[in-house]
Amino acid sequence: MKRCLRLILIATVILSVFRLLYILFVLPEYGETRLHPGQLWSKRYLPSLGHQINVSPQQIDLRVIVLAYDRAESLTRCLASLKEAEYNGDRVHIDVWIDCSKSGQIDGDTYTAAMLFSFKYGTVTVHNHTRHVGIYGQWLGTWKVTEQTKEIALFLEDDVTVSKYFYKWLKAVHTKYDSVANINGYSTQGMSMKHSGDRGWLQAPKSEVVFSYPVLGTWGFSPSLKNWLGFLNWYRETASNPSFHPLVPGLKPSNWYRSFMKSGKTDSMWSMWHIYYANKNNELTIYPNLPFRQGLTTNGNEKGLHYSTKQKTQAGRALVEWLDKYIALPSVPVQLDTHGRVVRS
Ligand SMILES: *[C@@H]1O[C@H](CO)[C@@H](O)[C@H](O)[C@H]1NC(C)=O
Repeated sequence: MKRCLRLILIATVILSVFRLLYILFVLPEYGETRLHPGQLWSKRYLPSLGHQINVSPQQIDLRVIVLAYDRAESLTRCLASLKEAEYNGDRVHIDVWIDCSKSGQIDGDTYTAAMLFSFKYGTVTVHNHTRHVGIYGQWLGTWKVTEQTKEIALFLEDDVTVSKYFYKWLKAVHTKYDSVANINGYSTQGMSMKHSGDRGWLQAPKSEVVFSYPVLGTWGFSPSLKNWLGFLNWYRETASNPSFHPLVPGLKPSNWYRSFMKSGKTDSMWSMWHIYYANKNNELTIYPNLPFRQGLTTNGNEKGLHYSTKQKTQAGRALVEWLDKYIALPSVPVQLDTHGRVVRS
């Protein structure tokens, strides 16, 4: 009995020592992100302020931000599609951001895939994250924006490929809608679910080349600068409150977020914060409405395959043939609600 008590006492002492070491040496690393111990469990990523490093030397027109982790083959496909796209002589920079594992490892094959990429239309920088930032850090911490930023940015997760014409479309929609206060950006994908959970894909009437919609799509997203800055500022403020959860009633993603909360995995759903913020501010995202639900990006791997009705129902296709009418953009795009119904035309 005495022996047992002594063991418990020793275990308690050892635990306290570890706790002390943790507080002294591990916690300070989180200083930059202003987490306090009570918030650590919630694993919320908070982008640091005042770190506006300009990662490309000169003024550029387009920055493609490729988010990678440990899928070398996907990354190679994504980069190869960027190589085949048209840039019309504009200044392009590609940032490849590779996240590291929780133990600090960068996947060697992914790194090699990024380093092997050569791009004749502009410059490329490969960034190793120095700590695991997860999907939040990848999306919220990699575009170093200020009010003065002029470039167009496009976020691509590594399983996305672009259409040859993606930049032509992006330039046109930015020019047309960046000055519209409630347009928060451009989703380049051709297919999207209805976020209410209704069946089928989003689709505006055939006569329309774009539509606006309350929820962003993340298979290629290009933010409108002002709205992105507003979102980041709000996120920084709001996410530091561990009891706040970004739930929007009636949306499927809210249910996913809720179930992630139960399993402690909300760190995979940064988009829920964007959805909440957009809802709160009545912001909309522009989507293409092209024939056969082609997109300017796709998260499938159908490149080079022939078009068939079967594929149409799978991951969607990247636009293969350009027509100028795709950028004959209306001043007020038709708006769909989360059930996919036209709100006003
Ligand atoms: C990035 O990670 C790779 C793979 O571990 C390594 O070979 C490379 O030296 C790293 N680069 C930098 C700049 O840290």
